[in-house]
Amino acid sequence: MTAPTPTELQDEFDALIAADQRIEPRDWMPEAYRKTLIRQISQHAHSEIIGMQPEGNWITRAPSLARKAILMAKVQDEAGHGLYLYSAAQTLGITRDEMTRQLIEGRAKYSSIFNYPTPTWADMGAIGWLVDGAAICNQVPLCRASYGPYGRAMVRICKEESFHQRQGFEILLTLMRGTEAQRAMAQESVDRWYWPSLMMFGPPDDQSPNSAQSTAWKIKRFSNDELRQRFIGMLVPQAEVLGVTLPDPELRWDEKEERWHTSEIDWTEFHEVIAGRGPMNAVRIQNRRDAHEQGAWVREAAAAYAAKKSAVTTEAAA
Ligand SMILES: [Fe+2]
Ligand SMILES: [Fe+2]
Repeated sequence: MTAPTPTELQDEFDALIAADQRIEPRDWMPEAYRKTLIRQISQHAHSEIIGMQPEGNWITRAPSLARKAILMAKVQDEAGHGLYLYSAAQTLGITRDEMTRQLIEGRAKYSSIFNYPTPTWADMGAIGWLVDGAAICNQVPLCRASYGPYGRAMVRICKEESFHQRQGFEILLTLMRGTEAQRAMAQESVDRWYWPSLMMFGPPDDQSPNSAQSTAWKIKRFSNDELRQRFIGMLVPQAEVLGVTLPDPELRWDEKEERWHTSEIDWTEFHEVIAGRGPMNAVRIQNRRDAHEQGAWVREAAAAYAAKKSAVTTEAAA
């Protein structure tokens, strides 16, 4: 039997994609597909891990024991999401160490949303409702991503994200049913998080150069603008139930175009934050770097324990 030629391998890959079958770690894949996935999955993992910080900020100050328990569980879920995703990226041949280095040396990107501060308790509600809500819109289609380990990780993550979104909605609902000051706090927080949450879907379709290839590879299933529209459609009736106002005076359903009409998104802000000049970028990376350095002894102890265990097993086998 002769080894398959590069053309045969490419044909086999193309056929799998065309048939909506999954690509698995041992399958042959084009180098560009592997690289794209490593970039996307590791950025996604970093976002989950960095995303623990804005909410971790409130764990010690949550207004009741029940709120504290829920918030802790939510932040732990995000750590779990980061771990599934790092594992999925590792199946493509990058090490966890390398991904961590890229992050703490400031070479990796992560979602721009986590570079905003969380000064009020209402931010825990707005993050759950808007940020986890946007994450769900983005991630549900990723459950069908062509790369098996990524798609499977997303299935579990999405189940937890819907819990996150509801807990955020419930925090805001409680505040909106509270005092005048609580209602004002909820509205002020929604005002701050609304636009950055719309930016989470990425630049407009005509400025998103990698989208076409990702769509052809069936990693991406909907365009940035389609997902943003879907998200707005989800928010509008929920905002009504909450009694909050979405801070866009131009927002309306355009009957003729069958889409939401919105004000212009401030893409300059988006590009500034992505470039590392958002309000919290430096703090987020510094915290992550400190946590990594302070955790060195745990990694050393785990490695020493594993070495000892394997020495015992080898001895027993001899
Ligand atoms: Fe998450
Ligand atoms: Fe979440």
